[in-house]
Amino acid sequence: MWIRPILQYNSETMSKPIPMVDLPKIHAPYQSELDKAVLAVVHSGGYIGGTVVQEFEAKASTYLGAPVIGVGSGTDALQIALMALDIKAGDEVIVPAFTYAASAEVIGLLGAEVVWCDVNESTFTIDPDSVKSVLSDKTAAIIAVHLYGQCADIEALENCAPGIPIVEDTAQAFGASFTRGKYTGRSAGTVGAFGTFSFFPTKNLGALGDGGAIASTNALLLAKAKSIASHGQSKKYHHDLLGVNSRLDPIQAAALTIKLHYLPQALTAKVSIARQYLNAFEPLNEVVLPLPVSFSNHTYHQFTLRVPSDKREGFASFMNECGIATMVYYPIPLHKQKAYAHFEQRTSLSVSENLSNCVISIPVHEALEPPEIGAIQTAVTTYFS
Ligand SMILES: Cc1ncc(COP(=O)(O)O)c(C=O)c1O
Repeated sequence: MWIRPILQYNSETMSKPIPMVDLPKIHAPYQSELDKAVLAVVHSGGYIGGTVVQEFEAKASTYLGAPVIGVGSGTDALQIALMALDIKAGDEVIVPAFTYAASAEVIGLLGAEVVWCDVNESTFTIDPDSVKSVLSDKTAAIIAVHLYGQCADIEALENCAPGIPIVEDTAQAFGASFTRGKYTGRSAGTVGAFGTFSFFPTKNLGALGDGGAIASTNALLLAKAKSIASHGQSKKYHHDLLGVNSRLDPIQAAALTIKLHYLPQALTAKVSIARQYLNAFEPLNEVVLPLPVSFSNHTYHQFTLRVPSDKREGFASFMNECGIATMVYYPIPLHKQKAYAHFEQRTSLSVSENLSNCVISIPVHEALEPPEIGAIQTAVTTYFS
């Protein structure tokens, strides 16, 4: 049955544990470019805004195909987007129960009502029919999360909730794009009223600290978001709106400009690793794989398996013994969290509940080497054969 995993792992080819993401190794091929760009900002004395941030915003806009502004984090981006949509007490905002807390937190922070919807079992993303079942005359926005690196089906969502502004939480899917219907070829985060992005270091496009961005093809909305991110100013010391202080740091922008250049090859590498996993794990009866969908490509921010809930802990321990990290995103759906207990549940959230018991993600970062990919395949296959 089980080969002594630790012995197998400590073979000649493998000597270091395999983390979920290995940033020094990812950065190694262009570390000197990063060092130079960051130092240039340090020596420039320009530490807030300026041309380095503008250059990144322009490059990100070109890459995504929609105007982009930088902000302080993905969470700020969500909050500013909702503020620009005038979300306030008395409004309802629909959000999946199966996502990272930030997607829902900002709704509560603005005094609005969090209305949970469920997700689709095989795509992990928002279920348009579930959204339909919780719509009301108070619904003021929907947050659609492009979870794990793949687009939610925004066109289907629009058909189920016509006219309701959609904020695409694209924290996990920078670089993903739609592959079906009227949004074919468009980037995730550019088709809703707003798209919001996180540059948390481990994301598809990760900074060297916190960072985020907001995209919108609606110039008025984006200008409003830009003003809100800068204390609601229309011009210096003229505050027309209540705002916040949320800026993309020039040091982060400098690093992001370089990392954006290397993003296409990083995404290609991740897709190639994911394809190897899909082939290797296909025969495993107990493992449900993240199969491609018709409406989106996949950037594999995460490679997330569904395993029998009673085997997940054992599998995680086995992987750990093999020196391979795993993570559960997310072990508790948000409607079951203490901070959100006061938001009423209006529809079945059974898929979110089931997924939180059976999902587990394995390393899929772009700097994995063939022996590491092989060791991960062997470990998964050994456990479930
Ligand atoms: C789905 C989702 N939304 C929002 C965020 C928040 O981004 P940040 O950490 O940059 O605030 C994250 C970050 O993990 C996320 O995964």
